[in-house]
Amino acid sequence: MTSTISRYDDHADWYVDYTREWGSAATDFLPEPLVGQRILDLGCGWGQLSRVLADRGARVTGVDLSERLLGRARELEAERPAGIEYRHGDATRADWWDGVGFDGAVCNMALMDMDDLAGALSSVATVLEPGGWFVFTLFHPCFPGRPGDGATLSSWPPEGGYATEGWWSTEQTGVRGHVGANHRMLSTYLNAVLAAGLEFVRFTELGDDIPQRLVVHTRRPA
Ligand SMILES: C[S@@+](CC[C@H](N)C(=O)[O-])C[C@H]1O[C@@H](n2cnc3c(N)ncnc32)[C@H](O)[C@@H]1O
Repeated sequence: MTSTISRYDDHADWYVDYTREWGSAATDFLPEPLVGQRILDLGCGWGQLSRVLADRGARVTGVDLSERLLGRARELEAERPAGIEYRHGDATRADWWDGVGFDGAVCNMALMDMDDLAGALSSVATVLEPGGWFVFTLFHPCFPGRPGDGATLSSWPPEGGYATEGWWSTEQTGVRGHVGANHRMLSTYLNAVLAAGLEFVRFTELGDDIPQRLVVHTRRPA
């Protein structure tokens, strides 16, 4: 199934205000040096991570399904030009791609928003140069949502189970109460990466007692 539902358009202004100070989980896990590298920010939102990449010297293309969020990203680019190119496109297809390969790609906290995981990973494998890297971050999929949680850390509904995959909403006040998220088992993510022909490089689990974020570093075989 191809996801073309832009769940963020109706919440774009709220989302920008809500996440303005968050920073991006992937920021500390980007392969360096980035200077001169052509990097794709897939599901770039309002460009928060795109701007970090550009600040580090990368030539950045941001792709997102939400016209409203891209509008906010382009406003920032107009205010403080960083040389970022933003394209409206569906990450689960590669029809927005101009045929020039990327040295690296990042998808920060957005694969959970994409209903077609195989399509998204296939796009990445298509647009990367051989040997190109791909880093993605997720809610750590192995830990349950917490009743009463403000909704940003939950992986699956408290009343559900780990093996119950699919889209769900916390129905609370955070991002995942506004736009929901797809829960997938860890094996689903790992097998989808392999099926796309990518190789694993490294895993990092972030959080204190209970990991809240999973960072996965992969690459296209050289
Ligand atoms: C949680 S936001 C993360 C945004 C950004 N990566 C960040 O870390 O600030 C998820 C983003 O994925 C985008 N998205 C969801 N489905 C998409 C798709 N099929 N193609 C491209 N972008 C998509 C949404 O529009 C939204 O901007």
